[in-house]
Amino acid sequence: MDYLAKSNKIDTLASRLLVVAVYTDGKKATLGNNAALLDARANRRLRTLVARGDISGEPGSTLLVHDPAGIRAERVLLVGMGKAAETGARELRQAAEAAAGAARAANVRSLDIALMDRRHGRMNTRRMARHVVEAMDAVLYRYTETLSGKKKAPALKSAAIVVDRAELNAARRGVREGVATAHGVTLARELGNLPGNICTPSYLARRARAMQKTLPVKTRVLNEADMQKLKMGSLLSVSRGSREPARLIIMEYGGGKRGDAPVVLVGKGLTFDAGGISIKPAGAMDEMKFDMCGGASVFGTLHAAAEMELPLNVVGVVPSSENLPDGAANKPGDIVTSMAGKTIEILNTDAEGRLILCDALTYIARYKPAAVVDIATLTGACIIALGSHASGLFSNDDKLAGELLAAGESSGDRVWRLPVWDDYTRQLKSNFADLANIGGKGAGAVTAACFLKEFASDYSWAHLDIAGTAWKSGGEKGSTGRPVPLLVEFLLQRAG
Ligand code: BES
Ligand code: MN
Ligand code: ZN
Repeated sequence: MDYLAKSNKIDTLASRLLVVAVYTDGKKATLGNNAALLDARANRRLRTLVARGDISGEPGSTLLVHDPAGIRAERVLLVGMGKAAETGARELRQAAEAAAGAARAANVRSLDIALMDRRHGRMNTRRMARHVVEAMDAVLYRYTETLSGKKKAPALKSAAIVVDRAELNAARRGVREGVATAHGVTLARELGNLPGNICTPSYLARRARAMQKTLPVKTRVLNEADMQKLKMGSLLSVSRGSREPARLIIMEYGGGKRGDAPVVLVGKGLTFDAGGISIKPAGAMDEMKFDMCGGASVFGTLHAAAEMELPLNVVGVVPSSENLPDGAANKPGDIVTSMAGKTIEILNTDAEGRLILCDALTYIARYKPAAVVDIATLTGACIIALGSHASGLFSNDDKLAGELLAAGESSGDRVWRLPVWDDYTRQLKSNFADLANIGGKGAGAVTAACFLKEFASDYSWAHLDIAGTAWKSGGEKGSTGRPVPLLVEFLLQRAG
């Protein structure tokens, strides 16, 4: 799928499908500027339909008009954007999604999007173009990798965002950023959706190495012997119960000044989490193939940063393992020694994410990071707390937390902060080791974050619990690619 920006006169544009906005004053729909331009040439056809009540103008409402007389567009899609004064990113994205759906249903090869006839919220053209591309591309994604049916190429090949001449450069820039972000989201979704028997730690390592071929990324992969030398006793203990060897995948993108402290992203890469000896119930266990979505979001974000040529140094680290029951697996009560030297009593082998992340968090101190963000499908408790609308945010640095909260708002990929107070850390006390790997009843998402915080004391750190946001269950089961949009926005802001 190609995305581009162009500047044309709306009312004389030849188009397979031309998308324009209508608004509502609460009672009836009104034409936006671009819709009004079309209407003037089309014998007031659009005005008539709107006055007749064929479209409400509420966000998400649509009306497809075929072959309007007087203009050169074969089809005009009116898309409701809600109250003109209140439209923002959410409405714009909803409209772009509706446009993508309509284009696919109409089987057209291309479409033109002229939704940006006013400022939606405080967004500039660059940002609006990004939103449109990202939202459309997310709707158009289809998983086909393991389907035997013919992979039919979709009819839709290109989308153009139509803007005023003065806005063309800004729109082009936004499209470029949107495309790079969308590629990152797609990569994260694709890796997430692959089954556990294909997407193993070694498979992820191969994909990371392959990234070097097309993008300015340097990949290194540590195997179990390397990790043994580094004394990653916690990470290795999780992998011991599995026949697939663990990998520590390191991807470096050096778009910033040489020697500038990097942002380090650490993603949980559990390619299948059966729980280990503390085995999970059978229901929906298949969804634990998604337990590497944090790692996948690191792949996606690095891909996007490199494709955008962001002027920033970014390092992505993905500790990857399976968590299975086996004669050699961790047992409840086992005590392991982490790379940091802290001993850990494993009271529940299903709290394995923190066990692989803690050694990765110790490892990355060598980069002297400007900031560290770890991303993990860490706790069912986070789903109880926040559902699937926001990812959990935890941090030892208010400034970093503020940046991530703001990036969540402007990308639409939101996070909400929870505390990491010592009161909660005390729940991790063990009689036999420095720390237990679970914190008992209450605040499970917080105690998991507090566990990680114990290993992140040397730098500015934030943790994103994406257990509720990384994938959807039910009929629409599949990876969402979150929080790639959030992380890309965060990096863009950092790059200035
Ligand atoms: N990967 C799971 C968390 C998870 C569960 C994410 C369900 C999404 C849906 C994690 O490894 C885990 O099993 N966590 C346990 C921790 C508990 C044993 C303290 C959990 O949340 O039940
Ligand atoms: Mn688990
Ligand atoms: Zn897990």
